[in-house]
This record gives sequence, structure tokens and C-alpha cells, in this order.
Amino acid sequence: MQYFKHIELDGWRGPAIKIHKYVRDNTHIIKDGAFWNILSRDKHAYCYEQLDPVFTRAGFNLLRISFLVLWGDESTIHQDRDVFPGFPERIARINIPILNCEHSETRFYSTINNNPIVKTLPNGITYTHHEAEDVRVEAAVTVSKPTVIRVRELHSVVNHAKIYPRIALTCAVDPDPVYLLEEN
Ligand SMILES: [Fe+2]
Repeated sequence: MQYFKHIELDGWRGPAIKIHKYVRDNTHIIKDGAFWNILSRDKHAYCYEQLDPVFTRAGFNLLRISFLVLWGDESTIHQDRDVFPGFPERIARINIPILNCEHSETRFYSTINNNPIVKTLPNGITYTHHEAEDVRVEAAVTVSKPTVIRVRELHSVVNHAKIYPRIALTCAVDPDPVYLLEEN
């Protein structure tokens, strides 16, 4: 199975720099310690204005942007249940590096023991996580540029640099970019 793919997304760097500045000016967005921070279109229209044209040019409709913020050395090993109203559950999303991503790794796992722990986040999203002893690493990628990530597979983010926070955007788009992982 292909878990990830770096993709060419024309014009992403300028918007990423502007969104980095936006988060520096609005640090409350990332300060509550949550890993997954959804940006609503109403409250954070600026971020959507930056990225809508980038995704439109690439043939995608941008459904939702979230900040993934890691303040520690690693996230949980989890699967996302990513439901956006009116669309089938997303199997993959497109992640974009914002800050300190170059020394981090997104790892993908298979299970040795199927021993899931189900949690519901304050934002209402349910996710399943596993302990490290129940899984085996299958692949890893550094989100150094836009990357399709198979979010329904077990994954985690590991921060090697001990420089915090590590921030990436994760973008739910339509069509589901999983098709890019199914091509040769
Ligand atoms: Fe995730």
C-alpha cells in the first residue's frame, strides 16, 4: 500500500508563508495544546482566501483546513475519522508544512495486536489510537512539501528536532486525493 506521496502543488509557498505569519499574529489558535485544530471558514477566511486558488488550480475543492500542532516529541498513533458534511469520509488529505516540519517524520503503521482505544476529541471528531507495542512501522515521510497522507491508516508524527511547535496544515479536499496514491 502506498501511504503517502509528495505532490507538485503550484504556488503553495507564498500562501504557506502568509499563513505562518497569520498564526504568529493569532497564537491563540495553537496555544490550547490540541494537536488537531480546525479552522472554520467564517473565522479564518484569510487562510481559505490564500489556499482556495492553489487547490482550485490543482483541480480540488478545498473543504476544510486544520492546523496540526505538535508541542512534544510525538503524537499518538492514531487513525482519523474525517467526516465532512455532504461528502464521503476522507481517506486521504493533503498536508502542507508551515513550521519546523523538516526535522519531523509522519510514520505509518500496521497492527501487530488489534487493540484500539477509541477517543472523541473536544471538536467532536472521533479517533482511534494504538499503543506502540501493538504496531509496526511500515513507512515514514517528512512533510517538507505538500504531501498526500493516507489518514485512515494508523499514523503518528515524531519530532526529532526538539524545536516546538511543529506545525503543518492538513487540508480536506474533494475529490479525495487518495486517487494519487493508487496511481503508479
Ligand atoms: Fe492524523
